[in-house]
Amino acid sequence: MKTNEPFEENSHLSSHSSRGRPGPRQMTPVRDDRGLRSGRQERAVHQNGHLLSVHNLKKYFPVRRGVFSRIKGHIKAVDDVSFTLDKGKTLGLVGESGCGKTTLGRTILRLLEPTAGRVVFKDLDLFGIKGKRLRQARKFMQIIFQDPFGSLNPRMTVGGIVGEPLAVHKIGTPRERREKVAELLERVGLEAAHSRRYPHEFSGGQRQRIGIARAIALNPDFIVCDEPVSALDVSIRAQIINLLEDLQAEFQMAYLFIAHDLSVVEHISDEVAVMYFGKIVEMASREEIYRNPLHPYTKALLSAIPVPDPKARSERIPLPGDVPSALEPPPGCLFSPRCSIAEDSCRRSEPELEEIQPGHFVRCFKAAPKEK
Ligand SMILES: Nc1ncnc2c1ncn2[C@@H]1O[C@H](COP(=O)(O)OP(=O)(O)O)[C@@H](O)[C@H]1O
Ligand code: SF4
Ligand SMILES: [Mg+2]
Repeated sequence: MKTNEPFEENSHLSSHSSRGRPGPRQMTPVRDDRGLRSGRQERAVHQNGHLLSVHNLKKYFPVRRGVFSRIKGHIKAVDDVSFTLDKGKTLGLVGESGCGKTTLGRTILRLLEPTAGRVVFKDLDLFGIKGKRLRQARKFMQIIFQDPFGSLNPRMTVGGIVGEPLAVHKIGTPRERREKVAELLERVGLEAAHSRRYPHEFSGGQRQRIGIARAIALNPDFIVCDEPVSALDVSIRAQIINLLEDLQAEFQMAYLFIAHDLSVVEHISDEVAVMYFGKIVEMASREEIYRNPLHPYTKALLSAIPVPDPKARSERIPLPGDVPSALEPPPGCLFSPRCSIAEDSCRRSEPELEEIQPGHFVRCFKAAPKEK
């Protein structure tokens, strides 16, 4: 990573051709008239080579009640989350519905304003910039949505949708943009001729491919994949995950890959973070999480994954009830009302996220490293 030139205006929108395997980011250069250089040096910060680092990020939503709309409390959708992500790597983010995954992804991209914390992306303090600088930074960070139906404008052609980021950033001539759109559609497994059609003419999987083509149009470094396969048929999911993996290998993009099920992220993740009630409760390498889960919540989620060999199935760990009301967090450990091994002490104070083994973080008083 170039630590001093966070927003080098490269090869933007160059070819994502699937023919051959160019080194990462070889492209057919297309003009971008916008300079990105002004003012970046003074904001550059060092983050030990990580593409993205998230420090103590919080996003609280005020809850208003009554005729005067007074603030009655806050939903702590994201509460003190920290992690790093390197170029070309994937962090799988897993947790039940409502635990804060989408809010985390959107706040990192500054689609939501943070309550507190810091996000450093390509050596740039994302929460310290605004206006044109922020718009430029956003070119390098994209999002793929869960709902491939709702996220595509039904009145725009596929060509218009995929080419929109290029047009917004005034990249290339109209003809160059059309060529680029054709290339992108072919790269994601569609046809150039599809650019004249409308989203409703496509299946769910094809629509998600359109969303992916749009997301990679600006050649980003980082994509939040917000449950990109949750709404798809099981038979289609692997195809979309494989496509995302191929694109990552080719273009070295980093993914924050969100899912509510540990089985979905197993294949694609380098590291996995398990989120509960706005907080990360366990984080480790993929191998470690699946081989040696230490938090009772992770264990319960893992035990719910169906396995092909019934003999290999471990006993299913019950996960009673739902995530508690966001407005009334339980005292002590937030997981204690649902934890099968909770003790009284768990209700008195809240555990911190601790590095129990090198690179393996757990938020549980009773988590202990595996005996060797
Ligand atoms: N715009 C909002 N205003 C108020 N509360 C919100 C808003 N967006 C999300 N929340 C709340 O924040 C919590 C986390 O939501 P979300 O990030 O969507 O979870 P997930 O993606 O894991 O399902 C939930 O309690 C949700 O109701
Ligand atoms: S701290 Fe206690 S209640 Fe919380 S997860 Fe660990 S054992 Fe369960
Ligand atoms: Mg969500």
